[in-house]
Amino acid sequence: MKNTLIAPSVLAADFGNLQRDIEMINNSEADWFHIDIMDGVFVPNISYGMPVLEAIAKHATKTIDVHLMIVDPDRYIKTFAGLGANILSVHYEACTHLHRTLQAIKAEGMKAGVAINPHTSIDLLEDVINDIDLVCIMSVNPGFGGQSFIENTYSKIEKLKALITRKGANTLIEVDGGVTSANAKQLVEAGANVLVAGSFVFKATDPVQTIQDLKKLTTF
Ligand code: DX5
Ligand code: ZN
Repeated sequence: MKNTLIAPSVLAADFGNLQRDIEMINNSEADWFHIDIMDGVFVPNISYGMPVLEAIAKHATKTIDVHLMIVDPDRYIKTFAGLGANILSVHYEACTHLHRTLQAIKAEGMKAGVAINPHTSIDLLEDVINDIDLVCIMSVNPGFGGQSFIENTYSKIEKLKALITRKGANTLIEVDGGVTSANAKQLVEAGANVLVAGSFVFKATDPVQTIQDLKKLTTF
């Protein structure tokens, strides 16, 4: 049985009503909070930073999954642990010494994630997969919410799943970008364990119902 985890991306929330939107996720069937941190250098956009995450963490009652889209993420590992991150994902493309970075994240008591851009091959994770708790496959180019899903993602998920099985790794597969009820089931059939959804949840007329629908579609 597949029990897929749903992680609404707070990037699409209404920041004027942030507490309301956090409570909405708390009271929904969502499993995690997905927090997108962008620095305007690694990606062409700046999202929000520490004070906003601090405010979110104060109210959030579920796992906090932080996706760092920043250069030189090693500088901030301790900071994000202190802010309440439970999972910290860095970008493969932003790390010169990825293995060391993963150990540093774990040393701070967090789960260690690696996000990969659409152009980054799964093959590059072969020698480090056993050290990764979560791989976040970007199904859009990182930087913005509301973009359309890249179809090549399905075959990347299948490739990653095969790698995880072959290496006997214990790694979750997360998919991030353009997730909707139209592709959710197929993503899980391909091997995804965690689905991030921003616009699809927050732009819906009934976000709680939308989360429930995603959950239902991906539990089979
Ligand atoms: C994109 C972010 C995503 C984004 C997803 O750079 O990493 O988490 O918020 O938003 P949607 O679901 O709208 O594509
Ligand atoms: Zn993200």
